[in-house]
Amino acid sequence: MKEPLGLDSIAPGAAALYRRDLAVVAGIEKLRFFPLALESGHGSTLVEVGGRELIDLTATWTAAGLGHGHPRIVEAMTKAAKTPPGAGGLSAVHHESVGLAEELLAIVPGTGDRRVYLGHAGSDACDVALRAVRFNSGKHKLVVFSNSYHGGIGLAMAASGVHVDAGAVVADSDTAFVDYPNPFRPPTDGTDPLVATYSQVEALFAVGDVAAIMVEPMLADGGMVVPPPGFLKGIETLCRRYGVLLCVDEVKVGLGRPGMMHAFEIDGVIPDIVCFGKVLGNGLPISAAIGPAEIFDGPAAAALLTTAGNPICSAVAREVLKVIQEEDLVRRSARAGERIRAGFTSLNHPRIGDIRGHGLANGIELVTDKESNTPDGALASAVVYRAFELGVCVYRVGGNVLEVTPPLVITDQEIDRSIEIVNQAIIDAVAGKVSPEVLAGYAGW
Ligand SMILES: Cc1ncc(COP(=O)(O)O)c(C=O)c1O
Repeated sequence: MKEPLGLDSIAPGAAALYRRDLAVVAGIEKLRFFPLALESGHGSTLVEVGGRELIDLTATWTAAGLGHGHPRIVEAMTKAAKTPPGAGGLSAVHHESVGLAEELLAIVPGTGDRRVYLGHAGSDACDVALRAVRFNSGKHKLVVFSNSYHGGIGLAMAASGVHVDAGAVVADSDTAFVDYPNPFRPPTDGTDPLVATYSQVEALFAVGDVAAIMVEPMLADGGMVVPPPGFLKGIETLCRRYGVLLCVDEVKVGLGRPGMMHAFEIDGVIPDIVCFGKVLGNGLPISAAIGPAEIFDGPAAAALLTTAGNPICSAVAREVLKVIQEEDLVRRSARAGERIRAGFTSLNHPRIGDIRGHGLANGIELVTDKESNTPDGALASAVVYRAFELGVCVYRVGGNVLEVTPPLVITDQEIDRSIEIVNQAIIDAVAGKVSPEVLAGYAGW
C-alpha cells in the first residue's frame, strides 16, 4: 500500500510502527481514518506510541465496551489462562463455556428449548445464524436492510448492505434488501418511514419462502440511525403473521450500551434469535448466537471452529456480563448518553444536522447546512482526522456521521472534554485546516 501523508506529524515511533504495518499487514483488513499507532490503553484513554493520550470515543468499534485494561477482565483472563481446561469446546466440555451459555440464556428473553452457539466474532455469529435458519426451515430467502452490517465473511457479509454497496461482495442471490426507517431522512415522496419499510417487508414476506429477517436495532455502521419508536414491534408482528424468524443483531450496540441490557428491549420485542459479539469479550474474540434448539442443534458439526468456546474467552465473557451488572453500567450508559447528546446539542453548530442515540450508541450527523441537510462526508473525514490531531479518537459511519460510542466507563469529565475537542475539530475542519491530500490516504469506508 502507498504510504499516506501525515506520518511526519505524529511521534517518530508511532510513524515508524505505522510504516512497518503498511509493509506487512494485509490492506484488506484495514479501515483507517487517521494514522493511529497505539502503545497501550486504560479506561477510556488510548496511548499513542510516544506517550500522547487520546480520549477514546470508539471503544474500538464498541469491542472494548468496559474500557481498556479493565482490572476485573485482566484478572479473569489471567486466572483462566493459568490452568486452562483445554483450548476449545469442539470435542470436550468445560465449565466456562457451559457456564457462559447458561448465563446468556438467563439474560436473553425467550421461550422453549434454546441453545447458544459460541463463536469468535460478530461475523461468524451472524453467518451461522443465517445459515442455520435457512437450513432448518427449508426456506431459502432472507430479508435484511440496506446499509446494514452483519459481518465481514460468508453469508453475513453477502447480507450486509454496506459491503454490497461498496462492491466488496456480490449480494446473496436469495437475500432481499429493504430500507431502514430513518426519521432524519424519510422517503422523499412524503411516506412515513415506518409505513414505507413495513410495506416493503410485507410484500417480500407475502411472496413466501422467507426463512428470516435480520435487523440491527439501531443501524450502526450504516450511520447510527435510530429508528422510530415501535419499529421492531412492527417487524415482530409481521414475522409472527407470516411465520418468519426474527433475528436481532445486537453485536454492535447490545449488552448495556443502549442504556438497557439489550437494544431490542427498547421496543419490547422477543426475538427468535439474538447475536452478540464485540463487548462480549471486551477485546477478546468471542461471540454468541442464541435461538431455538431445533435451529442450533442440527445438523451436527455444521459450524466448527476449533477454539470456539475456549476457556479464556469464555471466562472473560462471563466476567464481562458480571461487571456490566455489578458496576451498574446499564444505568451509567443511559446517563452518560444523555450528557453526550445534551453536550452536542448545546454547541448549536450550524454543520451538525442531527444528534441521535440511545445510551452510549450515538450518531452526530454532519451536513453542509441545516436548510438542505445535505450529508457532508468530506467534512466528517476532516473532522475525525482533526479530532485525532487534537486528542480524540472518533470514527465515521454512513459517510457523514460521527459515531460516538465510548467505553461504558467513560467519566463526565472525559465526555465534556471530548465534546470541546470535537467542536474545535469541526471549526478547524470547516476552516480547511486538514488538507484533502492528507485525507486521501485515510479513505475509511
Ligand atoms: C451490527 C454488527 N453485526 C456484526 C458485526 C460483525 O462483527 P465483527 O466485526 O466483530 O465480526 C458488526 C461489526 O461491526 C456489526 O456492527
